Amino acid sequence: MSGARRGESIVLASNNIGKVREINELLKTERIRVLPQGELGVPETEETGLTFVENAIIKARGAARHSGLAAIADDSGIEVDALNGAPGIYSARFAGVGASDSENLEKLLEALRGVPQDERTARFQCLMVYLRHSEDPTPLICQGTWEGRILLTPRGENGFGYDPVFYVPGEDCSAAELPAATKNRLSHRGQALRALVRCLGGAD
Ligand code: IMP
Repeated sequence: MSGARRGESIVLASNNIGKVREINELLKTERIRVLPQGELGVPETEETGLTFVENAIIKARGAARHSGLAAIADDSGIEVDALNGAPGIYSARFAGVGASDSENLEKLLEALRGVPQDERTARFQCLMVYLRHSEDPTPLICQGTWEGRILLTPRGENGFGYDPVFYVPGEDCSAAELPAATKNRLSHRGQALRALVRCLGGAD
């Protein structure tokens, strides 16, 4: 059985407000009810993996164990070619544990100072997993990738994280200048979540 049961509640293993908002928006027409782990008193799980997929599974397992529910987790981040793929899995803590979005973003711009536009290629990665229970040996795993470029200065007020410095070539603006619905249609998280919903037996 790979699908979620009709009306099933699933815990979402994230306290990141930006992510929770996007995932809820993407799932609002589905028969799945997603509860952020904070609402269930689930503590944050330490991300000890070396890959996005390991970290996503670690987070989902922790949330499933504490809640007794099936769990969805995403692990995501930005890979910058001129930095050999950094910050990657360390995107949320690039400027140190507990760093704010703007501190991380400033550190990225500083690391890329002097790098010309055509060498500022980058992509968001998202690994989305679903565990039926904390001991589930066959998690559903879906991936989304969103290609772009790092701008010289931040632009836009929407979204979260690195959105203000992520240039989206097809739209000629930053991810933070996109309406939420457009970002969800294009983004790494939107792609991964739609693939996961298909695996769970829902509509795209
Ligand atoms: P995680 O919670 O460990 O998966 O950390 C993901 C981090 O990657 C976030 O804190 C952001 O810094 C960055 N990130 C992931 N997805 C996005 C996005 O859609 N926009 C901007 N930044 C993102």
